[in-house]
Amino acid sequence: MKPTCPAHDEATRRSAGAARPRRTLADLPGPRGLPVIGNLHELHADRWHLEFERWWRAFGDVFVVRMGRQPILVVAEGELVRDVLQRRPAVFRRTRAIEDVSREADMVGLFSADGEAWRKQRQLINPTLHARHVEGFFPSICEITGRLRDLWSRAADERAARDVLGDLMRYSVDVTSTIAFGRDLNTLGGGPDALQEHLQRVFLGLNRRILAPLPYWRYLGLPADRAYDRALLAVKRLIFELVAAARRELEGGADRPARPRTLLELMIVARDGENPRAHLSDAEVYANVLTMLLAGEDTTANTLAWILYYLASRPDVQARAREEADRVLGGGLIPTLEQSKRLEYTGAVTQETLRLRSAAPLLYLEANHDTVVGDVAVPAGAGVVVLTRATGRKPEYFGDPESFRPERWLGGAPPTLPHEPRMALAFGSGPRVCPGRSMALLECAVTVGMVLRSFTVQLADHTAPVRERMAFAMQPEGLRIRFTKRACA
Ligand code: HEM
Repeated sequence: MKPTCPAHDEATRRSAGAARPRRTLADLPGPRGLPVIGNLHELHADRWHLEFERWWRAFGDVFVVRMGRQPILVVAEGELVRDVLQRRPAVFRRTRAIEDVSREADMVGLFSADGEAWRKQRQLINPTLHARHVEGFFPSICEITGRLRDLWSRAADERAARDVLGDLMRYSVDVTSTIAFGRDLNTLGGGPDALQEHLQRVFLGLNRRILAPLPYWRYLGLPADRAYDRALLAVKRLIFELVAAARRELEGGADRPARPRTLLELMIVARDGENPRAHLSDAEVYANVLTMLLAGEDTTANTLAWILYYLASRPDVQARAREEADRVLGGGLIPTLEQSKRLEYTGAVTQETLRLRSAAPLLYLEANHDTVVGDVAVPAGAGVVVLTRATGRKPEYFGDPESFRPERWLGGAPPTLPHEPRMALAFGSGPRVCPGRSMALLECAVTVGMVLRSFTVQLADHTAPVRERMAFAMQPEGLRIRFTKRACA
């Protein structure tokens, strides 16, 4: 057994709720801010996660910032972060803005629901993303990965550098739409698809509204919001039609029972073992199909883009991963399901990428009632931001934390380097941990295996900085990759 750190033990003991609070939010350190607006002006539109992390380095693991007049508790200490995430849905919830904006779009799905509504959905939907179902989607993932390979082969022939994030966004749209409702939008192969454009508009609109300081759209009809409403209507019509068609096929067809093939169909037949009468309504299926598209696309695409970034900037890592891919795949160019599970070093590269470049570097929650975090009293309704990426960059959990060292995940780190995998929180933690993680990791293994067998990758311009940008999820900005075909490809 590993020796435990006294600071962690103390944190666990304090947050178990037994301790009486010794501090209030007003006692905590934090950036000074301005009257009325607090620290709002310091949060740059697409890099605000970096500001939170800068404050963390300046003020430590527990501090306070002000959004307008509202004080927000910010936490980066691992045991406290895990404790807050664990005490959901009873004590903490996702920030209310997410549910409010989603409700206006009739889209209260697993990500945005809270309390009992969330619990019911989680029980019914979680099993639809279990490995045995995800593995059933494997042929679709491989087919679309082949399309990505063709695209990058052409780029290699033309010696053209690629904006890989754009390509990977289209890749994950195609994979997720095929898996979610059986429609391959083939955005990789063709021009813009109307449905994809609608989805993009809906997701951007939701993001804009969740982050808006005021619900201005309830009073103003800006062109972007009218376009959002139209796009939402089109998406809603289509998905409700697909739900109705799937119900007809699954529940009324002649040769019963048909085997569900998509997430939408799995959701329709989902039943709770303990409460067989519980099932998802059409509105809940609609909300969750959209949720899967929203939660699964950008996160996976951004993670894959960051993996390519590390492979391209670390030739030693690329060489070792390539040696493994050659050994495991033999003559194949795209891993089989069984091979993708044996790509251990590639898996470690993915874990290390997620630790350093988590697509969701922080989570924004709210206290449901008066409570205590560590030794701090938190009043009902107060915002709580947990810095999940910062937790994974603390030297007491991951030695030499700023270095990209995939071997640490394979037991290859020197024993003097701390290694606490439970403090790697890219998929969150507790009862609301990401249910799509097996699917995301499978997509990463297949795509990276394909790249390693077919190409060598290099940064198109070693001098151009690749920066972090916070859109719906955290993504690399300015990443261009040059592909060179390998002799075996
Ligand atoms: C690398 C890719 C991904 C990353 C980094 C990621 C990350 C996350 C994170 C941080 C959360 C919040 C967890 C928490 O609150 O504790 C989350 C929730 C969620 N994710 Fe993922 N995710 C990824 C891929 C996916 C995929 C592929 C799907 C589905 C197809 C998915 C579906 C969801 C859903 C439905 C939730 C809400 C769960 C709940 O609140 O109960 N995610 N994800």
